[in-house]
Amino acid sequence: MSQSPTPSRPSGCPIDHTALAATQNLPSQGPTGCPVSARAAEFDPFGDGYQQDPPEYVRWARDQEPVFYSPKLGYWVVTRYEDIKAIFRDNLTFSPSIALEKITPTGPEANAVLATYGYAMNRTLVNEDEPAHMPRRRVLMDPFTPEELKHHEPMVRRLTREYVDRFINDGRADLVDQMLWEVPLTVALHFLGVPEEDMDLLRQYSIAHTVNTWGRPKPEEQVAVAHAVGNFWQLAGKILDKMRQDPSGPGWMQYGLRKQQTHPEVVTDSYLHSMMMAGIVAAHETTANASANAFKLLLQHPDAWREICEDPDLIPNAVEECLRHNGSVAAWRRLATRDVEIAGIAIPAGSKLLIVTSSANHDEGQFADADLFDIRRENASDQLTFGYGSHQCMGKNLARMEMQIFLEELTRRLPHLKLSEQSFTYVPNTSFRGPEHLWVEWDAERNPERSAPDLLDHAHPVRIGEPSSHAITRPVVVQSAVHAADGILRLRLASPDGKPLPRWTPGSHIDVECGDTGLSRQYSLCGDPAETGVFEIAVLKEPDGRGGSAWMHDHAVPGARLRIRGPRNHFRMNESAEKLILIAGGIGITPISAMARRARELGLDYQLHYSGRSRRCMAMLDELAALHGDKLHVHAKDEGLRADYAELLAAPHAGTQIYACGPQNLLDALAGCCAVWPEDALRVEHFHSTLGTLDPSKEQSFEAVLKDSGISITVPADQTLLAALRSANIDVQSDCEEGLCGSCEVRVLEGDIDHRDVVLTRTERDANNKMMACCSRACGGKKIVLEL
Ligand code: HEM
Repeated sequence: MSQSPTPSRPSGCPIDHTALAATQNLPSQGPTGCPVSARAAEFDPFGDGYQQDPPEYVRWARDQEPVFYSPKLGYWVVTRYEDIKAIFRDNLTFSPSIALEKITPTGPEANAVLATYGYAMNRTLVNEDEPAHMPRRRVLMDPFTPEELKHHEPMVRRLTREYVDRFINDGRADLVDQMLWEVPLTVALHFLGVPEEDMDLLRQYSIAHTVNTWGRPKPEEQVAVAHAVGNFWQLAGKILDKMRQDPSGPGWMQYGLRKQQTHPEVVTDSYLHSMMMAGIVAAHETTANASANAFKLLLQHPDAWREICEDPDLIPNAVEECLRHNGSVAAWRRLATRDVEIAGIAIPAGSKLLIVTSSANHDEGQFADADLFDIRRENASDQLTFGYGSHQCMGKNLARMEMQIFLEELTRRLPHLKLSEQSFTYVPNTSFRGPEHLWVEWDAERNPERSAPDLLDHAHPVRIGEPSSHAITRPVVVQSAVHAADGILRLRLASPDGKPLPRWTPGSHIDVECGDTGLSRQYSLCGDPAETGVFEIAVLKEPDGRGGSAWMHDHAVPGARLRIRGPRNHFRMNESAEKLILIAGGIGITPISAMARRARELGLDYQLHYSGRSRRCMAMLDELAALHGDKLHVHAKDEGLRADYAELLAAPHAGTQIYACGPQNLLDALAGCCAVWPEDALRVEHFHSTLGTLDPSKEQSFEAVLKDSGISITVPADQTLLAALRSANIDVQSDCEEGLCGSCEVRVLEGDIDHRDVVLTRTERDANNKMMACCSRACGGKKIVLEL
């Protein structure tokens, strides 16, 4: 296949059709005889369409032609999430060596200019192949761990405040020019250990570097760009030389210089000089653009902006959703080192790939309703803006910290901020993306700190690392609270602004935060899913509990505001089962009642068994009787109507599915009865963790090999796998952290798992291919290999 233009072809088309058709599994030739589709031929990442909205610009490709050859670029373009993640996973087949290569080769004049500066940008980390890359990454990783990053928080906050102070009374500002460019630059320089050089000069140099690497400068611009890049290169060299005289400083570059003394073959001179220049751009421009994109997006969605103003706990996940929806790195590059197939398309060795991560971030296969901007999206941190695997951005948590602080300071000090009328311009290039200017305005008379100066004394703590689902709470108002049975309160919860609540399916639960007790409790939804404005739950007061249910009984009065998370469903009903046996004990009726309602609606064959001490303490009896008639079997102990589940379940039946929720002794008894049933015929819902606290004297440490990231970590006896992954900078979502909710599931490739959660079914456990990182461990202290 020809990759560079071949002007000799008479049609003017740069593609060697015969060779391409022979080697590529492309759609059959079109009427023009060209096997490259018309859309693929038109693809131009330097044009305004791509610059304004890359994922929208390649929507057609995501839908119809996920991998295509772009004759204008000379690259294969990959647009879907799974394909891009698989490319990131395999950095031997897909080498990162071209990540910093000029995407537009420069002409002889510009090359001569660069040569006069001795320009020799070479391998850093991001474009280094194995086996050189991982040892270097490991040696240089420590300053990026969450523990180390904490030290930078006060500096980032101080800088942010200083910049906001300068414009807060003006009523109008260009956030890019007046804050979002310089603060990340200053933070980057601090982090790297570089004295604050002339900011304007560095800004010009950084843009030149972006254009030089990822842009398409016209021949007449190339020379000016080459001079700026050459100067940048020389400045980087000078800064490094100065650092060498005293490498004791706290910066990452000084750290690298010290490491060079012990690992000279890993931390080479060429690496240090290249990184000195590339590092400023990697740490600065990415974050400046990401922040500008985030403010733009949030101000374009005033509801979301208002919500983060009212509840700063939402900020970490909002940052993640901004990075997903409108990240600052739109696409990245890899080189195929062997003949390979991507999504069924044959890609010959030597092909260059443009992997459009911004398109992956809008892939419906990975993100439900992907174009929707949803700051509570639970899997927002699956975004690929930071890349993935062994080269994943090392600075991601510094960037997250900066973005959180920018948003937190501005939402507190300027909640009345609005986006001004303007059109947005971008520096034309394939990869680095953010508006050049971002004009905002506000009524300075209404600045909250004028009437409440103590506002400045507060600061919301930053969450370093990926956001936890703990942060994704939603406010609700108690619409009604009625006595449903002895000790049981039935609540109807609605959103404060009357908007619909998220849809849910039977078996779903929500987590309710119990004020400032620090407790949160899970409650199954028991109403009618068709009623979209309301969630219904029933709360049993547990006198011997930790206080969550008692708090609910005292505080959940009509008009009270609560915070909830979810709904989430780990107890899904199989609607195609031939027959359903639904069994509830006590308050376990809540999810079971929703399942029974659904079974009735679908006209399924079902029976509903409900046992309790006495009718007085059994909620919902009247409505269940009205809905289910003789399908309802009430077993009230004080009436001598004890359920005989052993008899009911004596004869296994292949097409029958049993769902049960209730006290542990009921669930244990049912498990005994179902021992002879097909695997997983019985599905149960637990509300209480069976986990004890981790007892280091009884645990063994084990090794977890993270295949995608190329590292191994030791999980000590006194730490969970989840905690060990987090301290190694690996993103894993989590919520309950008690083995109940299933959020922290990770895929296991090798090794035996000691499962301790209550989420996985017997068959899932036996399959030995996934585990809950918050509680489960490797068997017997042995090694496990994870797909992380
Ligand atoms: C690598 C994006 C901020 C340092 C990368 C990669 C991307 C990226 C796409 C390549 C990933 C891959 O090949 O899998 C971003 C974005 C940022 C950001 C979107 C801000 C929102 C930072 C910051 C720093 C930094 C603040 C430093 C303080 C690095 C380094 C690598 C890297 C050292 C190379 C890692 C390796 O190859 O092993 N970043 N970055 N980045 N980034 Fe960032």
